[in-house]
Amino acid sequence: MDMKQIIAGRIAQAAQESFEGCGVSAQDLAAMLEIPPDKKLGDFALPCFRLSKTMRKAPQMIASALAQKLSCEEIERAEVVGGYLNVFLKRGGLAKGIVEAVLENPGRWGSSEIGKGRTVCLDYSSINIAKRFHIGHLSTTMIGHSLKRIYDFNGYTTVGINHLGDWGTQFGKMICAYKKWGDHDAVERGGVQAMVDLYVRFHQEAEKDPSLEDEGRAWFKKIEDGDPEALEIFAWFKEVTLKDTRRVYDLLGVEFDSYAGESFYNDKMQPVVDELREKGLLVESQGAYVVMLDDYGMSPAIVLRSDGATLYITRDLAAAFYRHNEYHFDKCLYVVAYQQNLHFKQLFKILELMGHEWYKGMEHVSFGMVSYEGRALSTREGYVVYLEDLLNKAVEKAREIIEEKSPNLPNKDEVARQVGVGAVVYFDLHNDRNKDIDFRWERALNFDGETGPYVQYTHARCCSVLRKAEAFAQAEPDYGVITDDEAQDVLMLLTRFPETVRKAMDANEPSLITRHTTQLAQAYNKYYFEHRIMEEGDPAGTAARLNLTRAVRDVIKTGLYLIGVEAPERM
Ligand code: ARG
Repeated sequence: MDMKQIIAGRIAQAAQESFEGCGVSAQDLAAMLEIPPDKKLGDFALPCFRLSKTMRKAPQMIASALAQKLSCEEIERAEVVGGYLNVFLKRGGLAKGIVEAVLENPGRWGSSEIGKGRTVCLDYSSINIAKRFHIGHLSTTMIGHSLKRIYDFNGYTTVGINHLGDWGTQFGKMICAYKKWGDHDAVERGGVQAMVDLYVRFHQEAEKDPSLEDEGRAWFKKIEDGDPEALEIFAWFKEVTLKDTRRVYDLLGVEFDSYAGESFYNDKMQPVVDELREKGLLVESQGAYVVMLDDYGMSPAIVLRSDGATLYITRDLAAAFYRHNEYHFDKCLYVVAYQQNLHFKQLFKILELMGHEWYKGMEHVSFGMVSYEGRALSTREGYVVYLEDLLNKAVEKAREIIEEKSPNLPNKDEVARQVGVGAVVYFDLHNDRNKDIDFRWERALNFDGETGPYVQYTHARCCSVLRKAEAFAQAEPDYGVITDDEAQDVLMLLTRFPETVRKAMDANEPSLITRHTTQLAQAYNKYYFEHRIMEEGDPAGTAARLNLTRAVRDVIKTGLYLIGVEAPERM
């Protein structure tokens, strides 16, 4: 149980004693408790204004009545300032409570069973076949991966889905190009890039000879009709793409439970179209079939083109039904850039109009754009940064820094990978997801700023302190010595960690965890520089400070884990 809950419980008791039958629950109070910006105003503050309405007494009066009744082992004193009840915790008591709670269940502080028996589908990364993975795909991949861990951590069953973009006429053109100019081994060797080159060539040649377009379409028709040769080449394109992409996923440590992409829904759209028609939602418009959404301020959603072809949204409708029937999800999240806002609003609205209540569990988890060193990426202008290149460069740079700072480190390659990749991932997950991000090397890899390496370094520092501590005989800890302000900051951040995890989950916002973990690292470093952890003649105090260090190490590691960043023990 966290300290906020405990204090809320104590105040509820005091309220019961002072105002019999007032009916404020500990739960209400916990929601009202604030953490004052200035420690002089206490560790927690209860604004009594809202209570004053229900209790029909002046806020100040309520606060002072509560202050008089509040005496317990956790609370040092309570003060009344204006309508606020400011609560000061007994310092040693706070340390003991929180440090022991963290250490009782290593790696689990902040976890819960809230999601027990509930399922979340997460659609993320969702790459397109025969396209290279560039840094614009980093956010969907890492936000999704992080959210999956956060939901898992809270007891949910999670299903990670890579909704592959593996359908469309472009694949007919690619097969056409491959048949004309391609070479099997060249594609095997060159991977996605070789396929992209073929596609580019197709367009160049088609400018000279427009009949190629028809040939391309004919090949796509063959895929649609299940022609064995077309299917075989197409399946092989997919395989090559996934093999290329897997290298990046392996670097990032990302996995999926399903790769059911757009083509998977080829034979699953008819029932949805039929249902739309039955429910009178399908309107003919210039030969196409659309769902009108102007009542909701949206353009019509085209479900069938005039030539009978299905569209992106038709596949997403089928996918929604499939996920509902297959996984019985309580939530289905789509981690996709904000450019697709309209698409998802249309999708959810259509399901609502069809009368499927479960649409309420669906959510578009959008995010902003990434630019690189101040410049917007543009395929057209040829300014692209491939994710694999970026990650490899990060690892290389981390390796140089390690070589310079700790030349004697064992397994430098492994640590360089953890730090380089960690720097990129942290950078991606440290601002609110809807903000655009500008990737800059000097900001991502700075060991002193708010960066992945900085937090990892703090974790390694804790590990190092604890390794040295092995030489110290362990005594029974005396937490009474942990009373200084620096330690209080650390303790409050440990205390509030579970709340942050919960908020991050409710808002689908991993950056809350990134920032909280960073603050914890900063607070611990401050403590570390101003206090001696191991003190010769003070075994009991030393034991308490070491346990505090252990708790910090554990929670930093958890925080990093939840955002998909590894925590090396030495750096
Ligand atoms: N492949 C799509 C793209 O790159 C993203 C797919 C997102 N998921 C979905 N179910 N629509 O734009």
